[in-house]
Amino acid sequence: MTKTFKLAVIPGDGIGKEVIEAGMKVLTYIEEQSNGKFKFENDYFDWGSDYYLEHGSMISEDGVETLKDYDAIYFGAVGDPRVPDHVSLWGLRIAICQGLDQWANIRPVEFLPGIKHRIAHPNPESLNWILVRENSEGEYSGIGGRNFSARPDEREVAIQSSIFTEYGCERIIRFAFDLARTRKRKKVTSVTKSNAQQYGMVLWDEVFERVSKEYPDVETDQWLVDAMAAQFVLNPDNLEVVVASNLFADILSDLGSALAGSLGIASSANLQIDKRFPSMFESVHGSAPDIAGKGVANPIGTIASAALMLEDLGLHEEANNVHEAIRRTTAQGIITHDIGGSSNTEEITNAIIKNLKQ
Ligand code: NAI
Ligand code: MG
Repeated sequence: MTKTFKLAVIPGDGIGKEVIEAGMKVLTYIEEQSNGKFKFENDYFDWGSDYYLEHGSMISEDGVETLKDYDAIYFGAVGDPRVPDHVSLWGLRIAICQGLDQWANIRPVEFLPGIKHRIAHPNPESLNWILVRENSEGEYSGIGGRNFSARPDEREVAIQSSIFTEYGCERIIRFAFDLARTRKRKKVTSVTKSNAQQYGMVLWDEVFERVSKEYPDVETDQWLVDAMAAQFVLNPDNLEVVVASNLFADILSDLGSALAGSLGIASSANLQIDKRFPSMFESVHGSAPDIAGKGVANPIGTIASAALMLEDLGLHEEANNVHEAIRRTTAQGIITHDIGGSSNTEEITNAIIKNLKQ
C-alpha cells in the first residue's frame, strides 16, 4: 500500500522560491523512484512578503492552525527589502516555530568534498558537527517593548528580555545528550555566557550539570560563547554535538557553515520532538536579496534539509541517498559561485538527481 505524506510547502521570499523549486524537484524524483512505496501530497502556501504587502500579515489568520494537519513543512526563506526584517521573520518563520512548539533546531555542519573549506585542518571531511539550538525561548522570546519614541530629545527606551525556563533548558539539553548517544563520538559541548548573563545562563549551566549526571557515557565540555567562536576555528576536532541558546546557536551555525564553505550548503530542521505537530525543514540562509531572481543560488542547504525531512518521515534510506548524491556532486566539482564554482541552481539540482540514479 502506498503511504501518503502531506507536505506543506512555503517557498517564501527571494531565493527561497528558487531553492524550494530545486528541493521539490529532488523530492518528486525520489517519489517516482519509490515504485508506489510512498507519495507526497504537496500543498503550496504563498505566505511571505508579497502576501504581507497585499494582506497586511505574513501568514493567513488561520495559517499556523492549518499547518497542524501536515506531516512536515518545507520552508524556503523570508526577508524582502520592502518589509522590515523583524516583521517578516517574526511574522512567518518564528510564528511557525513558536506556534507549533518546534523547540529543537538542529543544524548539521557538513564539510563536503570538492569544496574549499575555510579551516586549517588536515582532513576537514572527518569533522562531524551538529549544532543544537534551543528554538522556543531564550533571547528570541519576543518579550519587551519600546517607549518614549515620540520624544524629540532622542531618549527612546527599548527593553528586550530573554526567557530561560528550567523546563526549556532541560528539554533541549536532554535532547542534545540523547542525540550524542546515537553518534560515533559521544560528546556534548554546552555554550553560554554565564559570566555576564548571570541569571538565565547560570540556570542553563546548572541544568546542564544536573542532566549530564544521567549520561555518564557521554563526554561533556562547557564554553563561553566568545571563546567557543575561537574554538570553532582553532580546535575543530573538539566539537561533536554543540548545544546553545537560540541566539548563540544561530550565530555559531553561520560561523560553522562559513568554515565549511558557505551559508548556501547549511541545512536545518526545526523539530517538534514530541510529535504533537509537524516539524519544519529549511536551509540556514536567508532570502539573499543580492542574488535573488538570478537562478544562481546554491540549493544544497535546502536539498540537504529535504534529506532531514525524509529522515523525520522514517525514509532513512532515501535520506542517506540524498546526502550521498550531494557529496558526489560537490566531489565532481559541480558547485555554485558561493563556493568557487560556476554552475547555477538548475545545474546543481540536475546533477544531484543524476547522482541519485547511480
Ligand atoms: P542571507 O543568508 O540571505 O545572505 C547572506 C549572504 O550569503 C549573501 O551575500 C547571500 O548572497 C549569500 N547566500 C545566502 N544563501 C545563499 C545561497 N543559497 N547560495 C549562494 N549564496 C547565498 O542573510 P542576510 O543577507 O543577512 O539576510 C537577507 C534577508 O534574509 C533578511 O531579510 C533576513 O532577515 C532574512 N533571513 C531569513 C532567514 C530565514 O528565513 N530563515 C534566516 C536569515 C536571514
Ligand atoms: Mg541565522
